[in-house]
Amino acid sequence: MTCPFHHEGERIVADEGAKLDFSRDMSYGDYLQLDAVLNAQKPLSPDHNEMLFIVQHQTSELWMKLMLHELSAAVAHVAKDDLGSAFKMLARVSKIMEQLVHAWDVLATMTPPEYSAIRPYLSNSSGFQSWQYRCIEFMLGNKNAAMLKPHGHRPDLLAKVEAAGARLRCTTNRCACWRAAALPCRPATWSGTGRSPTRPAMRSSRPGSRCTAIRSSTGICTSSARSSPTWKTPSDSGASAT
Ligand code: HEM
Repeated sequence: MTCPFHHEGERIVADEGAKLDFSRDMSYGDYLQLDAVLNAQKPLSPDHNEMLFIVQHQTSELWMKLMLHELSAAVAHVAKDDLGSAFKMLARVSKIMEQLVHAWDVLATMTPPEYSAIRPYLSNSSGFQSWQYRCIEFMLGNKNAAMLKPHGHRPDLLAKVEAAGARLRCTTNRCACWRAAALPCRPATWSGTGRSPTRPAMRSSRPGSRCTAIRSSTGICTSSARSSPTWKTPSDSGASAT
């Protein structure tokens, strides 16, 4: 006896003209490279919960990939003085961060003993070695050259983390203060060692009135900055280096 709804399903598909044959056309899975994505979960333990641990990290890395995509574009738009587009991208970044935080609700269904059951199979691997996470940190201003070391064995990834040195914060501060001085923005560069040579001291314990006004009006500068765009070196200002 065939299912009474069988024909109903076929009728809907036929009525909506749904395409069913993808032997010669790009399908949903083709477009999304789902074979590669969905075959990338390789549990090392026999434990049921490891799939959660892997998928949680992989989805977080995919969200971090999107975050870097948006942050890099935002830096480019700020440097072009196109703050409107940059703000839209930064608003998306903040939603991605919310998504990453909420994703922990799923991970929280794993108990500590369940985590301990898979931990021995992970060897020394840790989110500490996430190169995308490090790129995000560097772009947002928290740059520690020591964090490049875990990527030394992969020159391709090391180069990406180093390249993330042109910090959004530096560019936005620079852009905000050039605007105050009615000058075009210029992007920052970084050699990967300590302070950025082209980035004068911007953090100071005595915020300048003009940059404070810029910060409060644009809301994009978090660190205190000097009042005049003609920067002094850290030693002149006694400011602490970031
Ligand atoms: C049961 C779940 C998890 C445990 C027990 C855990 C544990 C840890 C520990 C102990 C560290 C410190 C570094 C270390 O000792 O290796 C760390 C760092 C880190 N974890 Fe996790 N983690 C978990 C899930 C995640 C997830 C889902 C992500 C998402 C990508 C993640 C991303 C990171 C990152 C990026 C760091 C480096 C933080 C930094 O250096 O500032 N972790 N984790």
